[in-house]
Amino acid sequence: MTLITDVRLRRVLDSRGNATVEADVLTESGGFGRGKAPSGASTGEYEAIELPATEAIANAREDAIPRLVGEVHAGNQRDVDAALHAADGTDDFSGIGANSAVAISMAAAKAGADVLGAPLYQHLGGTFRGNEYPTPLGNIIGGGEHAADATNIQEFLAAPVGAPSVEEAVFANAAVHQEVHDILADRDLPAGKGDEGAWAPSVSDDEAFEIMDEAVETVADDFGFAIAFGLDVAGAELYDADEDGYVYDDGVKSTAEQIDYIAEKVEEYDLVYVEDPLDENDYEAFADLTDRVGDQTLVCGDDLFVTNVERLQAGISAGAGNSILIKPNQIGTLTDAVDAIELATESGYESVVSHRSGETEDTTIAHLAVATDAPFIKTGAVGGERTAKLNELIRIEDNAV
Ligand code: PGA
Ligand code: ZN
Repeated sequence: MTLITDVRLRRVLDSRGNATVEADVLTESGGFGRGKAPSGASTGEYEAIELPATEAIANAREDAIPRLVGEVHAGNQRDVDAALHAADGTDDFSGIGANSAVAISMAAAKAGADVLGAPLYQHLGGTFRGNEYPTPLGNIIGGGEHAADATNIQEFLAAPVGAPSVEEAVFANAAVHQEVHDILADRDLPAGKGDEGAWAPSVSDDEAFEIMDEAVETVADDFGFAIAFGLDVAGAELYDADEDGYVYDDGVKSTAEQIDYIAEKVEEYDLVYVEDPLDENDYEAFADLTDRVGDQTLVCGDDLFVTNVERLQAGISAGAGNSILIKPNQIGTLTDAVDAIELATESGYESVVSHRSGETEDTTIAHLAVATDAPFIKTGAVGGERTAKLNELIRIEDNAV
């Protein structure tokens, strides 16, 4: 029933106005699924390769589609994703492009779900999963590679850890975003928004910490549940090998100083989440920081692990981090992403399913987070391509998908 009968690829816009790959998968019995690839700006050195959209489409048409149409069942995700790997023939998807691969992988999953008449999260997760909902981490203030003239730390994220439901959590994050707008206005600090919709004021990181702290406290009082916050430092972007340290506007921090700095901020602000606090090659420094604060906060590897089971395994062996960011396009297929989540779960690491800075209205990651019982999802706070996922989570919670 789910035998693939057609795969169509096209170029569509992402949220930055760049071209990305959209895939449609059709099946024998009339099943249909559509997936779109997101795209990073602060990409990890070890990510699967995104090709220019037109090149990715041409290569996938030539190499991947013949291996899928009439050959593979969309309902069997492992077969679909194995065919994509076989068609690609490399270990980093530089043949057909991780953007073509992930778009097809997600489209096939949706086509499989469509034939079953099941919601995508149920198709991906099976019967015994999907009963827990992820806490959304909302990007509120940010800079780094996502906005010029803003903070050095890439993301300050609201974490409504006490929210009684996804719906309440989503609205709490939006309220924190609004509250920060009001605080910035009171301080006469004009601010545009970065790529993910976070405010990008020209303030020091210290001032951003104070503003976040004030905003989450105010909104927590209003909503009546605990809201903490966390960071994506995007340390690999700050690290400069020539300087042998982390380059901030106010100076360079050595690795030891960076570890102290992050540990102090965890203590001072009760941070519940710290992503990529250190460089993507420094397992040892990640392990040192995890030793110091790993029982108080999540120390999450994004560019460190790039959703890759081998890199995660190396991190587990080294004691680096206690959580992993999951971005399907970093590794190219849903199967690879789920394998990373399974290894993480077996090893006591928490999974945080994530969007990219360049996004589309695709909602697959909302379903993936629910399907795998991921405790967190990072998918922004406002903006259409972000609210597409947040609103889908609200619908999933309401049994309305
Ligand atoms: P990116 O940023 O999508 O630009 O890589 C998001 C992140 O670093 O988590
Ligand atoms: Zn990150």
